[in-house]
Amino acid sequence: MELIDGNIVAKEIKEEIAAEAIKIRESRGRAPHLAAILVGHDGGSESYVNFKMKDCHEVGFESSLIRFEDDIQEKELFDAIEKLNSDPQVDGFIVQLPLPKHLDEQKVLEAINPAKDVDGFHPVNVGKMMTGLPSFVSATPLGITLLLKRYKIETSGKHCVVIGRSNIVGRPMSVLMSQKEMNSTVTVLHSGSKNIKEICASADILISAMGKPSFVTSDMVKEGAVIIDVGTTRVPSTQTKSGFKLAGDVDFENVAPKCSFITPVPGGVGPMTRLALLLNTLNAAKVLTQIKH
Ligand code: GUN
Repeated sequence: MELIDGNIVAKEIKEEIAAEAIKIRESRGRAPHLAAILVGHDGGSESYVNFKMKDCHEVGFESSLIRFEDDIQEKELFDAIEKLNSDPQVDGFIVQLPLPKHLDEQKVLEAINPAKDVDGFHPVNVGKMMTGLPSFVSATPLGITLLLKRYKIETSGKHCVVIGRSNIVGRPMSVLMSQKEMNSTVTVLHSGSKNIKEICASADILISAMGKPSFVTSDMVKEGAVIIDVGTTRVPSTQTKSGFKLAGDVDFENVAPKCSFITPVPGGVGPMTRLALLLNTLNAAKVLTQIKH
């Protein structure tokens, strides 16, 4: 069994991104720039956004955080999006989700200029990704494909089972795995699926994005399978200062001995998700640079 170390791969690729950021800064006078809009004070969202800003700093990108209170009116948010859409100093931006209930998330995502949509959530980017055109791909699926490639894991002709059909992870993941580049045969499991155990046990590559700790048990895993655990459920813990720890979807202790490769939680997919946003921002900056020169 080989552990897939997302921290190591993310560090390697971050060094490559930092080198490219220097080139971009030299050629057009400013580094790639990621902006984030954060509405409210949700603890999880605050820490995710702070990590994103810190990651930018580490690779030499500029970053901006635009904050609003929970009771922001729709118009004010749309004005802020419009300003970023047309700001030549900003290469890409995100609106951190979830948003307060009175705001229509889909409408907000669709207001973002697809050329700056580094989350890859705009329907234009989703549609381009579906048809195999160059596009921004949402961070977790993109990060997972990078991990599979860096570890030279054979995906062609393999049966890949994806658990979960969310717009952010499961569905785009299934599309990427079925495209020519990855060339897998894909099954998507969701809340309406039957025979989940049997289908998982037939997977050569099992990608779980369900959010249920220890859902994937050893009887659901084929000998020699590749296991990618996207789960990051916060569970109480007496061993950490914060009083909680992150739990994956996979019963790691019992599943790991059966696998050829497995991602740990934390330290597997998480660092690659963060990295993928930097990669999308770099690509946004490159496209804008090409337009200007
Ligand atoms: N909330 C949880 N994950 C994400 C993400 O990848 N992007 C944004 N914008 N919000 C999130």
